Amino acid sequence: MKVLLIGGGGREHAIAESVARSSKNPQLFAVMSKKNPGIARLCKDFLLIKETDLTVVDFSVKNNIELAIIGPEAPLAAGISDRLWNAGIPVVGPLRLAARIEFDKAWTRDFMTKYRIPGCPGFKVFRKGESGTDEFIDELGDVVIKPAGLTGGKGVRVMGDHFGIEGAKDYAKEVLKNDDVVIEERLIGEEFTVQAFVDGKTLAFAPSVQDHKRAFDGDKGPNTGGMGSYNDSKDILPFMKESDYIDAKRIMNDTVRAIQKETGVPYQGILYGQFMATAYGISVIEFNARFGDPEAMNVLPLLENDFLEVCSNIVSGTLDKINVKFKKQATVCKYAVPSGYPDDPVKDSIVEIDKMKDSLLFYSSVYEKDNKIYTTGSRALAVLGIADTIRDAEKKAQDGLSCLKGELHSRRDIGTDELIMKRIQHMKELRAN
Ligand code: AMP
Ligand code: GLY
Repeated sequence: MKVLLIGGGGREHAIAESVARSSKNPQLFAVMSKKNPGIARLCKDFLLIKETDLTVVDFSVKNNIELAIIGPEAPLAAGISDRLWNAGIPVVGPLRLAARIEFDKAWTRDFMTKYRIPGCPGFKVFRKGESGTDEFIDELGDVVIKPAGLTGGKGVRVMGDHFGIEGAKDYAKEVLKNDDVVIEERLIGEEFTVQAFVDGKTLAFAPSVQDHKRAFDGDKGPNTGGMGSYNDSKDILPFMKESDYIDAKRIMNDTVRAIQKETGVPYQGILYGQFMATAYGISVIEFNARFGDPEAMNVLPLLENDFLEVCSNIVSGTLDKINVKFKKQATVCKYAVPSGYPDDPVKDSIVEIDKMKDSLLFYSSVYEKDNKIYTTGSRALAVLGIADTIRDAEKKAQDGLSCLKGELHSRRDIGTDELIMKRIQHMKELRAN
């Protein structure tokens, strides 16, 4: 089977490994903006262009691609899925109309309200140039300011973490010069992610994962694309209640149905729900129209099915015909990022990689020159430990990190007993009050 993968990060390397493991005699082709050495090694051929470049369609037709998989959000927002389907190539990744769930946060909040999808915090959308934000911020008191469009995970600012009430007012006005803005109630709790394969009607759910957005230990420092993530050997995380996962699945099911009603097109691809477990049950932080990065690296290696068989059933709308299963194991994923990331990262610095014994390695934003690996300004490499417990998976991930030598930084605390206990304690206190 000839498969095209769009995207060149750690998430896409994990997807490429899953494709390579398939028994469907896969031949992988890739389109990425920079050569990811891990993906390149698994490919028959690749093209280095912007992931939103329409020449991807010609490349696919020329290579008789039978299935395309889109990793990141930018090509979905650019309508690459629509172009490929029009050229007769089935795509794992929703059409532009349906991908709006990710790339227009204002649309999504209005959509959730219209279809009465539970878990929507108090919010108001302000259109570019509109006034009245100060009054609404005063009314809510504790707010989050979200530019409506895509910002690479770095545009959302949270009161208390990033600024006080005056700072929030200034930031809302600044965003409104160029974009619509969503001002919403700040939720207090613990975040978790649920990812699902979706064929338009049926959803097949992966276990819950928790990402760590902040750059430094103890959830300090600026927001990043995600420094690491973990899951437990069951569907829920140690701080979650069984009902949190059930409610998350129900919300995602309702969302897929409502998207088809609203847009007229079925949602086919990956749906990523980001939730906050709060004292009053779960709320929706956002939806993404793709796997998370790093969260894809947690769940894909646990998938028991042939990944390409799952993909084939997504595009033919027949996911109900197979039983999608994940191994009951825990994983811990940790990113090694260039020192100084995200504000002032060391670029073009050599990374030496020793052979890993007990962990998996995923390449992300690095490049290869004369057989040496160099950093760019973004997250460089990820390691994954898999074990029966989070504690053992964490040890394996640390082992993997010790095989990487260079001007790198990673979070020591992700997946440790100490941080997990802190999350459990946090939820206990919230639920008690
Ligand atoms: P997003 O880009 O929507 O994932 O937002 C980035 C981060 O902002 C999330 O991972 C949350 O930590 C935080 N965030 C977003 N919305 C809210 C909210 N309503 N309440 C509290 N934190 C939020
Ligand atoms: N890890 C968060 C994201 O992929 O958006």
